[in-house]
Amino acid sequence: MRIKPAHFLDGRLRLPGDKSISHRAALIAALAEGNTEISNFSTAADCASTLACLRELGISIEQQDDKVIFAGSQELVAPSRPLDCGNSGSTLRILAGVLAGHDFTTELIGDESLNSRPMRRIIEPLEMMGAKLEATDGKAPLKIHGSSRLNGITYKLPVASAQVKSAVLFAGLSATGRTTVIETSPSRDHTERLFNAFGIPVTTNADASVTIYGRGRFVGLPITIPGDISSAAYFVAAAMLLPDSQLTIEGVGLNPTRAAFISVLTSWGGDISTTDLQFERNEPHGTINVRGGLTGTATDRTLSGSMIPSLIDELPLLAVVGSQIEGGIQIRDAAELRLKESDRLATTAANLRAMGAEVEEFEDGLAVSGPTQLRGAAIDSHGDHRIAMAFSVAALIAEGDTEIAGAECVAISFPEFFTLVESIAQR
Ligand code: S3P
Repeated sequence: MRIKPAHFLDGRLRLPGDKSISHRAALIAALAEGNTEISNFSTAADCASTLACLRELGISIEQQDDKVIFAGSQELVAPSRPLDCGNSGSTLRILAGVLAGHDFTTELIGDESLNSRPMRRIIEPLEMMGAKLEATDGKAPLKIHGSSRLNGITYKLPVASAQVKSAVLFAGLSATGRTTVIETSPSRDHTERLFNAFGIPVTTNADASVTIYGRGRFVGLPITIPGDISSAAYFVAAAMLLPDSQLTIEGVGLNPTRAAFISVLTSWGGDISTTDLQFERNEPHGTINVRGGLTGTATDRTLSGSMIPSLIDELPLLAVVGSQIEGGIQIRDAAELRLKESDRLATTAANLRAMGAEVEEFEDGLAVSGPTQLRGAAIDSHGDHRIAMAFSVAALIAEGDTEIAGAECVAISFPEFFTLVESIAQR
């Protein structure tokens, strides 16, 4: 994909449904007692992987435009072949939690990237609950010997992870007694919010741990998925970095465990506001308004500690933005980024350097100097959708054209990305 610099962005967008919420809504709908119609379902290839796995598990799913419809009271059955989770960590890890609570054996497989990502983090708690899991060196392919008679546990996550927390909570639906997950720093809470909306109480305790109270079955309900805030982030950042931009994104998810990048960009001088706050099945959504240009002096130029989980998918983008901030920025305590679809610390650093930025790489983060005029360059996405999109933003603010190799990987989360960029970029 060849991207030319833009003068500014001008437009009003509505985005396909949030990927994280869509995965969870589909799993809940497959397990629910009544019918569930999911509107504005994510168009991400990752969410198509979740639907394909559920179909292999015997769930019939109807798809009409942006709607995905599940008849209620279906039962998962043993699949006849391994389930392909594609590139999707959320599909593999959260589905593993669902399957841990069913009396059959399933094998979960992924693409090369997913098969290289760590799975011990789900194996340990799910085995404590009574399931048996087989992996190769702690990685997928993963065989799950489930049981509908699991036992509740109290489990402290070694690293904050919404996927692991969610796997344990879904397994908790087949457990006797309470299951509590303790996190060091809170990760995205879509599972907790949707469980409560669909009739399974989950409480968030004073120490931020979460508890589910044993066996239960969801009720079926209609739901409209809010627009994907992590997809919105690329447009918000690009509009902020291109003076004269005016951008409005409507109907976008504003869950505080996902929206932290908005406060970060504002603290770095961005003019960003959120309006029209509403709730859909416990999930907040609204409108994001961005006016281009940076004002004032950036504060809080270090991203670290408990901020990291709520910024996790936006960190490559924030590193790109950081190259435009007076004094630069630092990211620390983010070693988890090395275990994503690519080693995102390495791929972000290499691509930023290719565009002329000065970057120091640490085991757990990056220091990016700024401000630097980026130069168009040859970028390698490493097949990682968030790297392709973060460097498309860099391309829009660069001098000269940028060529992104493997750019088709944006379809993993956001197939419409390049078309929407072209629809609002003014040159
Ligand atoms: C996700 C959780 C995060 C995030 C991923 C989606 C989810 O991963 O990076 O893109 O849907 O729960 P971790 O749970 O590994 O932090």
